[in-house]
Amino acid sequence: MECSGVIYDTINCAINRTTTDCTSLKLVFSNSSLQTQKLAKKFLEKLKGKNLICLYGQLGSGKTTFVQGLAKALGVKKRVVSPTFILLREYEVTSHQSPVARKENSWELETGGWQRLTHLDCYRIESEQDLKSFDLKELWEDKKNLVVIEWAEKLKKILPKERIDIKFEYVGRNKRRILISCQPPVSSYQ
Ligand SMILES: Nc1ncnc2c1ncn2[C@@H]1O[C@H](COP(=O)(O)OP(=O)(O)OP(=O)(O)O)[C@@H](O)[C@H]1O
Ligand SMILES: [Mg+2]
Repeated sequence: MECSGVIYDTINCAINRTTTDCTSLKLVFSNSSLQTQKLAKKFLEKLKGKNLICLYGQLGSGKTTFVQGLAKALGVKKRVVSPTFILLREYEVTSHQSPVARKENSWELETGGWQRLTHLDCYRIESEQDLKSFDLKELWEDKKNLVVIEWAEKLKKILPKERIDIKFEYVGRNKRRILISCQPPVSSYQ
């Protein structure tokens, strides 16, 4: 999988949707964790106006790998691991490099105004009730905060419609199927 062409169209469609024809899932295949991380970077380049990314998929399907790609692109210095037990981790976004510097370092890119990356992992919770000590709404209402949630289905009752959903499927040892779609659904535009 090259991280251009198909992916770009996919992301364009999922993110810049203003018409009603983009609720269909857009499909990408990744053949390595590196490709999944590069996909995350491409995704971030196209991400405008949305700051809530919900990730779905079984254990080991690549969700955290994707978040690691986002973090690299944002110049996060700390190592990103799933916050499975503590539920939430925040990372400072440090990438404020000049365009020239960015060219030399192909991983990092302009922040797009992001100040923080907030990574949630809901695997261990039963429902949104278990997260009531966190003000989740406040997290995603802060548009400078890029919020990424693993096992987001556990929060389905409270997730706002304005979000991007990404589903990861294990296909083979190094192969993953990745579906990107954006909310809200067609009906809310009609
Ligand atoms: N194409 C690929 N994309 C992503 N990860 C891959 C790919 N091929 C192999 N892997 C490997 O699969 C594993 C994915 O683990 P990761 O922690 O990202 O999964 P996860 O979906 O976050 O799981 P969990 O629900 O347990 O948090 C890693 O060891 C990664 O190196
Ligand atoms: Mg994970």
